Amino acid sequence: MDTKKLILMLLVIIVAVSVEGRNKKKKKKKKECTKLTANSNATINFDYLVLTISWLPTACYVFQKASSKSSCKNLFMHNKWSIHGLWPTMIAGESPESCNCSTKFNHNETKTLTSELNAKWTNIERKEGEHFWQHEYEKHGSCASSIEALNTQYKYFDQGLKLFEKYNISQILNNSSINVGSSYREADIVEGFRKQLGKQIIVRCKNDSKMKKYFLYSIQLCFDKSLSLTDCIANRNYPSQCPPPLSSKKIEFSGFRELLNN
Ligand SMILES: *[C@@H]1O[C@H](CO)[C@@H](O)[C@H](O)[C@H]1NC(C)=O
Ligand SMILES: *[C@@H]1O[C@H](CO)[C@@H](O)[C@H](O)[C@H]1NC(C)=O
Ligand SMILES: *[C@@H]1O[C@H](CO)[C@@H](O)[C@H](O)[C@H]1NC(C)=O
Ligand SMILES: *[C@@H]1O[C@H](CO)[C@@H](O)[C@H](O)[C@H]1NC(C)=O
Ligand SMILES: *[C@@H]1O[C@H](CO)[C@@H](O)[C@H](O)[C@H]1NC(C)=O
Ligand SMILES: *[C@@H]1O[C@H](CO)[C@@H](O)[C@H](O)[C@H]1NC(C)=O
Ligand SMILES: *[C@@H]1O[C@H](CO)[C@@H](O)[C@H](O)[C@H]1NC(C)=O
Repeated sequence: MDTKKLILMLLVIIVAVSVEGRNKKKKKKKKECTKLTANSNATINFDYLVLTISWLPTACYVFQKASSKSSCKNLFMHNKWSIHGLWPTMIAGESPESCNCSTKFNHNETKTLTSELNAKWTNIERKEGEHFWQHEYEKHGSCASSIEALNTQYKYFDQGLKLFEKYNISQILNNSSINVGSSYREADIVEGFRKQLGKQIIVRCKNDSKMKKYFLYSIQLCFDKSLSLTDCIANRNYPSQCPPPLSSKKIEFSGFRELLNN
């Protein structure tokens, strides 16, 4: 074999290996949906549904911090809670995601809900578009559809909105004297909800290593398969990022105005 041929062969191998490496990286990032055949009898397994409700100032802060290109609408000026998603969830282990490749978001099906979704299921990204709703529906709605009350795109979003309106987070916090601008122990927040709703919730935080602070990020309410409020049980696969139970650190309930202005 002459040298030219040998070099060419080596080049081909190098290119092939690097392409494969890149494909592998891509695959790891994006979890593919499950392709269901017409007569497949896939049973989608989950224990209950988690309604994740985000504090928009923190969501915006996290989003903008993730990349210099990320820019959210000026939502931090509006201190409000908004739905992130309604997620079929396992109490232990991994929760199902992207359960059905045929489940595609179609704007037409929820056109009549658009203004309500904008107000209560808010896409914080400045870039216009419905990709947030598309993402939630195809990743989580495709798994929730095994419940009759959630088996269309319209039902999925309409039920999410209804549950969010039924349990008014701002009011519940206000009734527990938990106010923007102060900091609290996780147990105080959990206890406030328990007193008013009689159920266990999950508090999620943003653990900000730069500021060495924990910020209130979201509240999770849990619903059984008949959509009745039920106790949430923390899943070790999805750590809350809140201060450890014995830590003296508190959770900041911040409007971020000062932080985002500079
Ligand atoms: C299909 O699913 C139903 C309901 O979950 C179950 O009773 C039945 O045994 C399944 N059939 C097959 C062939 O897996
Ligand atoms: C998958 O999605 C399609 C389109 O929404 C639907 O017709 C089909 O019933 C779904 N399959 C299962 C197993 O849920
Ligand atoms: C949505 O509705 C418009 C107008 O009725 C129609 O032209 C379009 O094809 C529909 N899109 C989908 C994806 O169904
Ligand atoms: C919660 O209650 C406050 C006033 O108590 C009201 O302004 C707000 O619209 C309510 N939120 C929802 C989602 O219903
Ligand atoms: C908050 O307290 C007010 C006044 O006591 C009460 O009317 C309201 O129902 C309470 N809200 C919640 C969500 O418990
Ligand atoms: C918040 O609670 C205070 C009493 O602690 C009450 O006077 C006020 O009306 C409440 N605000 C809302 C919006 O529920
Ligand atoms: C929060 O972040 C700090 C610094 O990065 C880290 O040492 C600590 O373990 C984190 N705490 C939690 C509960 O994740």
